[in-house]
Amino acid sequence: MSTIGTIVLAAGKGKRMGGAVPKVLSKIWGRPLIDYVLDAVEGAGLGPPILVIGHGAEEVRQAVAGRQVSFVRQREMKGTGDAIKAVRDQSGAASGDSANLLILYGDVPGIRHETLRRFLDEAQDRPTLVSIERDDPFGYGRILRDGGGAVVGIREEAHLTGEERSIREVNAGTYLLPRKELFESLDELPVHESNGETYLTDVVEILCRKGLQIEAWKAPDPKEFSGVNRPSELTDSAATLQQRIAERHMAAGVEILDASKVVLEHSVRISPGVRIHPYVMIEGDVSIESGTEILPFTVIRGTIRIGKGCEVGPFSHLRDGTVLEDRAEVGNYTETKKAKIGSGTKAKHLSYLGDVEIGRDVNIGAGTIVANYDGKKKHKTQIGDHAFVGSGTVLVAPVKIGEGAMTGAGAVVTRNRDVSAGEVVVGVPARPLRKDKSRSK
Ligand code: UD1
Ligand code: CA
Repeated sequence: MSTIGTIVLAAGKGKRMGGAVPKVLSKIWGRPLIDYVLDAVEGAGLGPPILVIGHGAEEVRQAVAGRQVSFVRQREMKGTGDAIKAVRDQSGAASGDSANLLILYGDVPGIRHETLRRFLDEAQDRPTLVSIERDDPFGYGRILRDGGGAVVGIREEAHLTGEERSIREVNAGTYLLPRKELFESLDELPVHESNGETYLTDVVEILCRKGLQIEAWKAPDPKEFSGVNRPSELTDSAATLQQRIAERHMAAGVEILDASKVVLEHSVRISPGVRIHPYVMIEGDVSIESGTEILPFTVIRGTIRIGKGCEVGPFSHLRDGTVLEDRAEVGNYTETKKAKIGSGTKAKHLSYLGDVEIGRDVNIGAGTIVANYDGKKKHKTQIGDHAFVGSGTVLVAPVKIGEGAMTGAGAVVTRNRDVSAGEVVVGVPARPLRKDKSRSK
């Protein structure tokens, strides 16, 4: 097979997406669209691609920093044809002397590297584009064929006439084309009056007229080639990609009871032997070790470490800076933030635990609140090993509960209080419990 240079188009604004960020930086499961495409290029064993940037060029550059790519800057975003022209006119040595160019769009995150590889292997250096069959072809360029079935062109949505509207075979936006012929034909591209753009897709008709035969390679799974132009399409692609994340974990031995009802970002690390129930969302730099069970309606977001054999949920909210050591248990309506929870410690019901360090085998009674915020500053709380915090206790930070100490139900331990080891405090404000015979008479 001859050498292949790769070009990824990423200069568009994404007006239809709302345009808040350059479209290729829209995120799915914690990663920008462009990352998915560049991963596929890398995974397919292709050399460093040329990335065409324009809108939000600096942001895009930064987002892909650390990757092996070279950049071409498209000045005015005058269409996909213009983007390739920018490569021709600017890239010089970067586009190499490869005989063929593989062109991809940066807003098609579903492409798997295996599929890309297969496409290239089967195209065997012949000019080929990827086509997909869609029940709803709206928005895509339709593949035009002649009476004999040969590809003769691509017609964009805005320019469709009559019968063409019902064509369901559409352009996926992935092309393998001979570099020399492609570059030569760019100057012949018509400028479309409606938007002043030139379309890469018009190259197909030009090349066909010149006698080149262009093949259409039908993608086995059209979903891989769904483009993202609108928010609803971002959602569609997200579903496909979430399924893949879940499959990756399940293949590694993670038990996910209903993969369609969990949300896991890419960055989440889960050891084999973890069990995840439906309606669980885990985002950020999270690690979960074996034997742990995450029960329904639990949200885990931030930098969080969960040890072995823990139980989280149902209805728990673990926030940034939470550490659960082995066998810790956090139950319904318990929220944690910057909380280290020692091994075997339980906070099973209705608690807020923020800016707190809790030792091992502590019982946090139902309704315990760590009042960490005084309206101006956050303060720390420490709770020693084997302490027993009674139901409804409020710990007004900064405060310390010693090892094996106990608070009575409803106690309010006021700020700067240092409950010593083994001490029992009760009441509001909490004070040492005395066995006062006279009062019980
Ligand atoms: C394009 C194709 C359409 C195909 C569809 C597949 C054209 C004219 N149409 O339509 O046939 O069915 O993709 O998803 O190519 N871009 C630039 N510079 C520009 C314009 C766009 O780099 O001046 C980039 C965009 O960032 C994007 C890609 O090219 O990554 C495709 O552009 P987009 O506007 O999304 O094209 P579609 O309307 O989806
Ligand atoms: Ca698109």
